[in-house]
Amino acid sequence: MELFEKKFYESMSSKVALLNRITYYIVNRKGKQMRPMFVFLTAKMLNSGEVNERTYRGAAVIELIHTATLVHDDVVDDSNKRRGFFSINALWKNKIAVLVGDYLLSKGLLLSIDHGDFDLLRIISVAVREMSEGELLQIEKARRLDITEEIYYEIIRQKTATLIAACCSLGACAVKPDSTDVETFRKFGELIGMAFQIKDDLFDYGEERIGKPTGIDIKEQKMTLPLIYVLNNCSKEERKWLINSVKNHNKDKKRVKKVITFVKENGGLDYAVEKMLAYKEEALALLESYPESDYKNSLILMVNYVVDRKK
Ligand code: IPE
Ligand code: IPE
Ligand code: MG
Ligand code: MG
Repeated sequence: MELFEKKFYESMSSKVALLNRITYYIVNRKGKQMRPMFVFLTAKMLNSGEVNERTYRGAAVIELIHTATLVHDDVVDDSNKRRGFFSINALWKNKIAVLVGDYLLSKGLLLSIDHGDFDLLRIISVAVREMSEGELLQIEKARRLDITEEIYYEIIRQKTATLIAACCSLGACAVKPDSTDVETFRKFGELIGMAFQIKDDLFDYGEERIGKPTGIDIKEQKMTLPLIYVLNNCSKEERKWLINSVKNHNKDKKRVKKVITFVKENGGLDYAVEKMLAYKEEALALLESYPESDYKNSLILMVNYVVDRKK
């Protein structure tokens, strides 16, 4: 990870001082770096602990793209906190955040292109497309408030799971380009990604300090699994009250609190936890046919971390 971090930071450099100031700000507030870890552990598990330059580059590209999407996401969600500090849009305004996100995205893609990693670039580009579609599908559904559980899964698959799927298939592809492991690990990463986003959506209902705002999903009229479940399992009047709250009183803090309490009292969180764990188990089952190794054990630890993490 030390070597990775160095390459990651170097890959952001620019001739524009303002950009360097902002990327310096970003790398000093690093996240959990789970995505590069998934890249490395997948590669190591499949290749007896050996990784190569392609693996490092692939991991850096993924983290660059992840960072770009977070910078954009905070503009889209009008969020002023990220990783325990002010977000880029909070400090430098939306205009700059949009452009910085574009810059990081292009630097990521160029890192692959400049080294001829076209197989990895395809995996990454598919993820980038899907993430944009997922974010837009989410906005469409937030406007019409007609989201179903099925559509929720489709949104989180696109906006979040595809990038983690890309991590694992890229890790496999970097060391075993033409093997069936590439697809197996794509699926593995996708399942982890589903569990990962359900966990993220659960945080929004909590009071824990996670380094970014909580309780903002309803404010942004974003209906996630706990609320969707409760909407489908309450009386007609309650449903009407819930929809009306999200539609017309989403900026009323007291009302939003009431909705959150209602969701908690009606088993919304328990249901989401159950689904999250089912995705996790499905992911772990895909590892069963692979031989035991330290790398495999670390990968299993990472999967458990996704659902147990505190931020
Ligand atoms: C946050 O991802 C964005 C989601 C897809 C929910 P992470 O929780 O991995 O963010 P960092 O990189 O650790 O801050
Ligand atoms: C995840 O979306 C970010 C992307 C996949 C672009 P969210 O908006 O749910 O994530 P957080 O909670 O702000 O990190
Ligand atoms: Mg968002
Ligand atoms: Mg957000």
